[in-house]
Amino acid sequence: MISTFTLFHSFIFFLYLLISTPSRASLFSGIETGDLEKKGDLFPQILRDEAVARLHELGKVSDASEYLERTFLSPATTRAIDLIRKWMEDAGLRTWVDEMGNVHGRVEGANANTEALLIGSHMDTVIDAGKFDGALGIVSAISALKVMHVNGNLQNLRRPVEVIAFCDEEGVRFQTTFLGSGAIAGILSATTLEIPDKKNVTIKDVLKENSIEATEESLLKLKYDPKSVWGYVELHIEQGPVLEQVGFPLGVVKGIAGQTRLKVTVKGSQGHAGTVPMSMRQDPMVAAAEQIVLMENLCKHPEEYLSYGGHCSDSSTKSLSSSLVCTVGEISTWPSASNVIPGQVTYTVDIRAIDDLGREAVIYDLSNRIYQICDKRSVSCLIEHKHDAGAVICDSELSSQLKSAAYSALKRMEDDIQDEVPILMSGAGHDAMAMSRLTKVAMLFVRCRGGISHSPQEDVLDNDIWAAGLATLSFLENL
Ligand code: GLV
Ligand code: MN
Ligand code: MN
Repeated sequence: MISTFTLFHSFIFFLYLLISTPSRASLFSGIETGDLEKKGDLFPQILRDEAVARLHELGKVSDASEYLERTFLSPATTRAIDLIRKWMEDAGLRTWVDEMGNVHGRVEGANANTEALLIGSHMDTVIDAGKFDGALGIVSAISALKVMHVNGNLQNLRRPVEVIAFCDEEGVRFQTTFLGSGAIAGILSATTLEIPDKKNVTIKDVLKENSIEATEESLLKLKYDPKSVWGYVELHIEQGPVLEQVGFPLGVVKGIAGQTRLKVTVKGSQGHAGTVPMSMRQDPMVAAAEQIVLMENLCKHPEEYLSYGGHCSDSSTKSLSSSLVCTVGEISTWPSASNVIPGQVTYTVDIRAIDDLGREAVIYDLSNRIYQICDKRSVSCLIEHKHDAGAVICDSELSSQLKSAAYSALKRMEDDIQDEVPILMSGAGHDAMAMSRLTKVAMLFVRCRGGISHSPQEDVLDNDIWAAGLATLSFLENL
C-alpha cells in the first residue's frame, strides 16, 4: 500500500517540476464512452480495445506463475519477443531481433533515405511488476502504426519509423540498466558482456543460451549511426501522481532525473548467536542497519549533512532538497539463519536527483560515512558502482511536437478541452536516457491510477490508453 505521506512527498517532488496546469476534474469525467465512439475517426477498436487486450496478454507473459516477472532474455522474455514481433508484423512493419534481444519493427514511409524516428520502450519488468511499465509505450506505438496500416497510410509517413522494444531497462538481473538502448546508443562499455548475475552467469552466457554469440565487436555493430536517426520518442506511464492530481490523461516530460546504483558488501565475523557476547561481535547486519538509517537521514535532509562537508554548492543543495530520493530495495545476508550472526550482508542503494553534481556529492558523502561506520564496528566494507546515468533534458522542439499531438488527440476526444498539457519531470529512469546519447529525445507520460508503479496495483484507464494511442498517431501523422 502506498502511504499518503509517500504520495505527498512524490507530489512535492514532481512539483519542483513545472506544472502549468490548474487542477480540474478528470478530463473524461463528463463524457460517456458511447459519445466518444460516435466520433468515428478515433479508432477505438485498435487504439483502445485491442491495445488494452494486448497489454493484458503481455502482462501474463511471466517467468513466475504468481506474479509478473520478465528479466533480460529469460524464457518469458523470449515468448514476449515472439508476441511483440507478431503484433509489429500485423501493423505492416518489417521486423527483426538484434543481437542484444531488442525487437525492431520498421517502415520506410515516403522518404526511405531520410533520418528515422525511433519510438519505443522496454519489455522487461521488475519482480512482481505491473502490466503497463514499458509495455504501454511499445503497444501504443504499434497500435498507432496499425491504424495507419489499415488505412493504407504507412507509405505516406514523411520519414522511416522504427518501433523498438528494448530488452532491459529495469536492470533487475545484472543491476546495470539500458542493455538494449545502451547498445543502440553505443554507450555500453567493452566489459559489459562479462557482467555477472547473482549466480555468476554473465550477460554473454545468457546471450549464448539464446543462440546469440556476442562479442565486443558484435556489440559495437549494434550502435546506430547518429546521422541515420532523427530522434527518439517514448511514451510511458507517469509512475507518479501528478497527472491524476491535475486531472489530465497526458503530460509532456521536461527532463529525467539522474541515477546511481551502488552495491554495498559488509563483511564481519560469522558466529554463534547464543555464545558470542554482544561486546565481542563484528556483526555486519547491524552495521548495514546503521548505514541504511544514516542514508535515509542524509537523503531526507541533505542540506544538514552536505553543507558541513563543503562538497556541494548552495544551489545543488537546494535542488537536492526537493528532488533527492534514496532507496535500499534489496538486501541479502549470509548464511541467513536465525541462530547465526551473519558473516556477510549485501545491499543495494538507488540514488536519484535532478542535479548531477548534487547526486555525486551525496554519493561521496554517503560512501565516506558508510566506511566510517564499518571502521567503528570493525567490519569491512566494499562499495561498488553498478550503474550511473546523468540527468537528461528533453529536446524542446520534439517536446512541443508531442505536446501539440497530445493536445490535438485530447481535443478530438473532448471538444471543449481548454487546459494546457502539463509539463513534468520524471523521477523514474527510461530508455530515453540512453537514447539521448545518440539523438534528441522526448517523452509523453500517461496518467496511472494513484501514481502507483513497480507494483501489480499499477493501472491505467482504458480511455487513457486510447488517448495515448491517438496522441502517438497524431504525432506520426505530423512528423
Ligand atoms: C526504472 O523503472 C527505474 O526508474 O528504476
Ligand atoms: Mn520500471
Ligand atoms: Mn519503465
